[in-house]
Amino acid sequence: MSTKRGERRILAAAPSTEAPLLAVEDFRTHFETPAGLVKAVDGVSFTLERGKTLGIVGESGSGKTVLSRSIMGLLTARNVRRTGSARYNGQELVGVSNSELRALWGTEMAMVFQDPMTSLNPVMRIERQISEGLRYHHDISGDDAAQQALELLTSVGIPDPKRRLHQYPHELSGGMRQRVTIAIALACGPKMLFADEPTTALDVTVQAQILNLLNEQQRERHMAMVLVTHDLGVVAGRTDEIAVMYAGQVVEHAPTRTLFSNVRMPYTEALLKSIPKLEQPSHTRLQIIGGRPPDLIHPPKGCRFAPRCPYAQPKCHEEQPPLVEAETPGHLYRCWFPVGTDAGREALERNLAHHVPAAEAAVTGDSAAAGRVEVEADASGPATTTTDGDDT
Ligand SMILES: Nc1ncnc2c1ncn2[C@@H]1O[C@H](COP(=O)(O)OP(=O)(O)OP(=O)(O)O)[C@@H](O)[C@H]1O
Ligand code: SF4
Ligand SMILES: [Mg+2]
Repeated sequence: MSTKRGERRILAAAPSTEAPLLAVEDFRTHFETPAGLVKAVDGVSFTLERGKTLGIVGESGSGKTVLSRSIMGLLTARNVRRTGSARYNGQELVGVSNSELRALWGTEMAMVFQDPMTSLNPVMRIERQISEGLRYHHDISGDDAAQQALELLTSVGIPDPKRRLHQYPHELSGGMRQRVTIAIALACGPKMLFADEPTTALDVTVQAQILNLLNEQQRERHMAMVLVTHDLGVVAGRTDEIAVMYAGQVVEHAPTRTLFSNVRMPYTEALLKSIPKLEQPSHTRLQIIGGRPPDLIHPPKGCRFAPRCPYAQPKCHEEQPPLVEAETPGHLYRCWFPVGTDAGREALERNLAHHVPAAEAAVTGDSAAAGRVEVEADASGPATTTTDGDDT
């Protein structure tokens, strides 16, 4: 496909109102490295409707950034292998050229990055950074682009926007810089916005303002949004659904309320216990998840969370659990001994009786026990319990 002016939007020129805006199926992104194939994203599936927000949550290294960048086609290195399917507005994105994917950036899909200082050009005035995309995609005059840049800066809540247009990034505060990157991302009216840890580089007081701004803009523009974070607290009141990632896979996916009220996956439960809660007395120790995420070149043969899981049984180390549906609609999880079920309760009790460190750490919040998880997982692999559990 050509990328000449006027032909840039061909990939998205066959809109389907029936299909979800984004449909990802068995999507994989692997990296060829001298040490072996890094399976950073390994069989992820989800759909996202127009106007909806999906939170993607997981520890560092779980594959959140690779997933969103790979869907957008931002990973262009020669060692990247993208397979499976990612359909945007009915059009397949896997297997198409980088230049075709690039044609969707800005007008169809856009991204707000973690650190505004690295995504903004330090030697270019704000006005030019916003208007460049507008002029590239819409072929409008410099004056019109400047006027639109002013309107965009106003809409993202930048005080004294006229003055700011003529400044450089270093003259703005961190919060204002992130507002500018949001203005740039919104400039060409994308239908889908990826926000990858958009507030982690900002101080706490500004974080909520930026998240509120993203939510406002998403609602006003009826965009779909993927909000990537390692913090379940961030996505709690701001998303329609949450997908929890662990070691390159989605391990639980549910409507946001369901996830918080009816968690099934022990990994999600552990993430929930690591969020501070208002009702907790001050100085309450937050739970840490003992151990480390697995090697993505040689992931464990069974459940990838097994070496760190308080509920793990021998079966978990042998067989990879499939994604199954819970009773509540739209709720999927990957676990043989789910939280909140008899099988889960019995598994946890067995592990406590055998003094399995992960189980003791989860129940008592004891960080010394959490510290032993890593040692045991590294030294001996599978946990030491011997009783076989039932399937659920
Ligand atoms: N170019 C690359 N080559 C090899 N491995 C890579 C490459 N890029 C990412 N990875 C690996 O892919 C895995 C997933 O990385 P990713 O950046 O998606 O994690 P993340 O969930 O976004 O973590 P964080 O919360 O720290 O941002 C990591 O193990 C990372 O080391
Ligand atoms: S109980 Fe087993 S299958 Fe479920 S998360 Fe733990 S290790 Fe994985
Ligand atoms: Mg990341």
